[in-house]
Amino acid sequence: MPESTNQPDPGKTSPLAGSRAAMGSPGEAGGSMESTGPTPPPPASADEILQELAKSGTNVDTMVGRLVIDQGLATPDEVRHCIELSRALAQERNERSLAELLVDNAYITHRQMTRLREVVAAERSGQKIPGYKVLGKLGAGAMATVFKAKQMSLDRMVAIKVLPRKFTSSPQFIERFYAEGRAAAQLNHPNIVQAYDVGKAGEYHYFVMEYVDGSTVYDEIARSKRYSEKDALDIVIQIAEALQHAHEKGLVHRDVKPKNLMLTKEGVAKLADMGLARAISDREAAEAEQGKAFGTPYYISPEQIRGELNIGPPADIYSLGATLYHMVTGNVPFDGKNPSAVMHKHLKADLVPPDHVNPRLSAGISEVIEMMMAKDVKRRYQKCADLLADLRLVRKGEPPVMARKELAGAALAGLAQAEAQAQGEIAIAPTEQPMVRAWLFYLMLGVAALSLIVNVVQFLT
Ligand SMILES: Nc1ncnc2c1ncn2[C@@H]1O[C@H](COP(=O)(O)OP(=O)(O)OP(=O)(O)O)[C@@H](O)[C@H]1O
Ligand SMILES: [Mg+2]
Repeated sequence: MPESTNQPDPGKTSPLAGSRAAMGSPGEAGGSMESTGPTPPPPASADEILQELAKSGTNVDTMVGRLVIDQGLATPDEVRHCIELSRALAQERNERSLAELLVDNAYITHRQMTRLREVVAAERSGQKIPGYKVLGKLGAGAMATVFKAKQMSLDRMVAIKVLPRKFTSSPQFIERFYAEGRAAAQLNHPNIVQAYDVGKAGEYHYFVMEYVDGSTVYDEIARSKRYSEKDALDIVIQIAEALQHAHEKGLVHRDVKPKNLMLTKEGVAKLADMGLARAISDREAAEAEQGKAFGTPYYISPEQIRGELNIGPPADIYSLGATLYHMVTGNVPFDGKNPSAVMHKHLKADLVPPDHVNPRLSAGISEVIEMMMAKDVKRRYQKCADLLADLRLVRKGEPPVMARKELAGAALAGLAQAEAQAQGEIAIAPTEQPMVRAWLFYLMLGVAALSLIVNVVQFLT
C-alpha cells in the first residue's frame, strides 16, 4: 500500500505543538470572521520560502524545505511558520532543525521525516545524479538502494538503482556492469522493466530504469500467502514471454525470483533487474542473502550453485519454476537453516510435488513445475517456447503434452531400473565398479591358488 502523503499522526502531542496556536498558524484566519485583529500575511510562494531558507537555514534545512514543498507534504506557509519558530528558538539558544519543527507541529509525520532524511542523505552522499531529481527511496535489497527520480530532460519518472561502493572497487565488476547494462538496454518488451542508462556519480555507479508503480510478487506472497492457480499462471506466462525475448537476444537473467517480478496496478507483470545479476557472481549474490528470510538461494538453479561456467536458459526456467512453486503452494520448494542447507537440497533433495502441498492444484500445473525444476538440466524445458506451450495448455484446462511425456519417460526409466534390481542386476554406481572388480579378481585368484595346491598335493600323494 502506498503510504499516504500528507496525513499527520493522529493524536500527536508535542512540546512545541502549542506554539503553533500561540504564534498563529499561517493556515488559520486568526479567529472568527468578525475578528478585528491584524490581518494575516498573504500566502507565501514556494520560491520566496526557499530563498528565505537559503539565506538563513542550514543546507539540510534548505533541502528539507524544497523536498516537503515539492512533494506536497507541507505548504509554503507551513514551512514559513517553522522557519519563524526556528528563528525565535535560536534567539533563546535552542537550535532546532526544520525537519524537527515540521514534525513537532504535525505538518509532516515522523515516518515522512525519516524518509526525507534518507533522501537528503542520499543526495548529500554523492548520489545526486546530473539530469535527475531524486524524489524518494523505493526500497533496498541485499545489494543496492533504489530511488524514485524524475528525469528532467524527458519529464518522466524513473527508478535509479545505486550500487554500494564495495561492489564497485573491482575493475572486472565495472566492466561487466556496463556491458550487461548495454545488453539489457537492447531489450524491448512489455514484460521487461526497461533499462535506460548506466553511469557514475561521485563514487557511486547507478542503473536507471523504467519506474513501475505497483508491487512485487514477493509483496503479494507476504500479504496473502499464496496465489490461485489461474492468477499465478497469468503472471508466469508473461514472465516466460519476457524470458523468451531475453534468451533469444542471448541474455540469461540468472536471478528470477518473486522480488524481481513486478506488477503494475493494471495487472501487467514485469521482470526487473535484467542484466544486473550477471555483474555479480551467483555465489556472491547467494552469500549476500545470509540471514535473510527470503532470498536468492530459494530459487537458484543447481548448475549455478555448482558454479558452472555455461549458464543457459534452463537456469532461468528452474528459478521461474521455484517461484511458481512458491506462488501456488505458499511454501518455498526447499527450506533450511541457512543458505548452504537450502542449496544442498536444490542439488540433492527430492521435490515434494506441488499438488501434495496444495491438493487444489491441477495435476497439469504440478507436472509443469516438476519439469521446470528437474535437477538434471537435460530433463528440464530447454527453451521458453516449449514451456509456454505447456503453460498455455494448463491454462486452458488441458494436459501439458511435453511435461507429461517427460515424466512418463522418467517413470518408465525408474521402473526398468527397479526391475533390473529385482533380477539381481544391481545398478552399480560408476565409482563403485572398480572396487567390485578388484574384489572378484582376488576371489578368483584365491580359488585358482587353492586348486593349484590341491592338484600339487594330489600329484605328490
Ligand atoms: N523499476 C522499479 N520501479 C519501482 N520500484 C522498484 C524498481 N526496481 C526496484 N524497485 C523497488 O526497490 C526494491 C529493492 O529492489 P532491489 O532490486 O534492490 O532488491 P530486491 O530485488 O528487492 O532484493 P535483492 O537485493 O534480494 O535482489 C524492490 O523490492 C522494489 O520494491
Ligand atoms: Mg531486484
